[in-house]
Amino acid sequence: MLPESEPSSWRVEPLARHHDRAAFSCGNDSLDHYLKEQAGQDMRRRVAAPFVLVSTHPNIILGYYTLSSFGIDLGDLPLDVAKKLPAYPVVPVTLLGRLAVDQRYREQALGEFLLLNALHRAYAQSSQIAAAAVVDAIDDPARRFYQHFDFLPFPDKPNRLFLPMKTIADLFRDS
Ligand SMILES: CC(C)(COP(=O)(O)OP(=O)(O)OC[C@H]1O[C@@H](n2cnc3c(N)ncnc32)[C@H](O)[C@@H]1OP(=O)(O)O)[C@@H](O)C(=O)NCCC(=O)NCCS
Repeated sequence: MLPESEPSSWRVEPLARHHDRAAFSCGNDSLDHYLKEQAGQDMRRRVAAPFVLVSTHPNIILGYYTLSSFGIDLGDLPLDVAKKLPAYPVVPVTLLGRLAVDQRYREQALGEFLLLNALHRAYAQSSQIAAAAVVDAIDDPARRFYQHFDFLPFPDKPNRLFLPMKTIADLFRDS
């Protein structure tokens, strides 16, 4: 295990100038490129909020995720979930647009730590800016990662998964 990955020193913070984006490599070109070229602009324009995971070396990005406000059609949800929501055409949700861990720090539970941090942040914010679920945008390997954490598929959009905010609330009820 590398010195950067001691759980007690992990922390998640908003992306800032001192973070070394150039060195980040998760093996997915699109996610690497996004962090290096787009995340800063998206943050300034308020279309996505990027958060990075750092440890003892405050400049080294071990992983990152982004959150945005989003809306989904009520009809896209499974019937049993939709039935519990009011019949508004669009349901407010939080979009977990991207989540990645640098290849050098894989399989040390950083992905899980980042995901739980993102879910907790979305849950905490939802009392101020309502969101009925967290939704992600994914490819095949990523789908398996999220399903490992009980995300559910949209019936007609297999590459989009969601986790109801009620489930997330239950997860953090005692924390
Ligand atoms: C997916 C990713 C974030 C996982 O990061 P990681 O730090 O290696 O994962 P963790 O060590 O926290 O794994 C936590 C758990 O998830 C499981 N897991 C990790 N990747 C998985 C995958 N692709 N499919 C299924 N399960 C996975 C692990 O086996 C582990 O299970 P356990 O708790 O039962 O031991 C990382 O591989 C990555 O960045 N991949 C490229 C980008 C990507 O696909 N992002 C996802 C959404 S955009």
